[in-house]
Amino acid sequence: MQLVFATNNQNKLKEVQSLMPKHIKLLSLKDIGCFEDIPETQLTIEGNAIQKAEYVKQQYGYDCFADDTGLEVEALNGEPGVYSARYAGKQRDANANMNMLLANLKGNTNRKAQFKTVIALHLNNKTETFTGICKGEITTVKYGDKGFGYDPIFKAEGYIKTFAEISLEEKNKIGHRGMAVRFLVNKLFEHNV
Ligand code: IMP
Repeated sequence: MQLVFATNNQNKLKEVQSLMPKHIKLLSLKDIGCFEDIPETQLTIEGNAIQKAEYVKQQYGYDCFADDTGLEVEALNGEPGVYSARYAGKQRDANANMNMLLANLKGNTNRKAQFKTVIALHLNNKTETFTGICKGEITTVKYGDKGFGYDPIFKAEGYIKTFAEISLEEKNKIGHRGMAVRFLVNKLFEHNV
């Protein structure tokens, strides 16, 4: 069967598809003819995930799920958090975002941070959410070229490599999105999807 994942981020699509049961083929926004920027105007990660999933249902008629992710840094009072994508400006540039975060943490010995993903599933006229958290720390420079976003500057607890230096399988095993997707998959089984 097919299920819409409300994203056009190919990295996310790859990560999540690899965790789906074999009989579920994910469709991206492009696949359903949605080429617009879906509004993300809420003040929380959870709010944005719900907003995206419900927007797709209302405008395009598909049951779907959407995810929203933020990087919460302890020494910056949880920033960039819900503003992670636009931390260094509207252009949503991953390198600029990382540079800004490294600059704001310069000289700070508290490097503790966590990734938080919320997935909102809109199915049968109901929206449910699933949260995944991965605790870790921010490095002082970038390492690795795998993954996307803030991966080159985030090391999960107990790891000496950043998310950009480990395989997709390993990231999925210990990562925030992997955790949220496993909750989602359990729920899909409950719904006999
Ligand atoms: P969004 O969930 O696509 O809105 O992502 C918010 C911000 O977090 C963007 O800057 C993404 O690049 C970044 N981001 C989302 N997921 C990850 C991840 O798994 N690793 C690193 N950065 C991520």
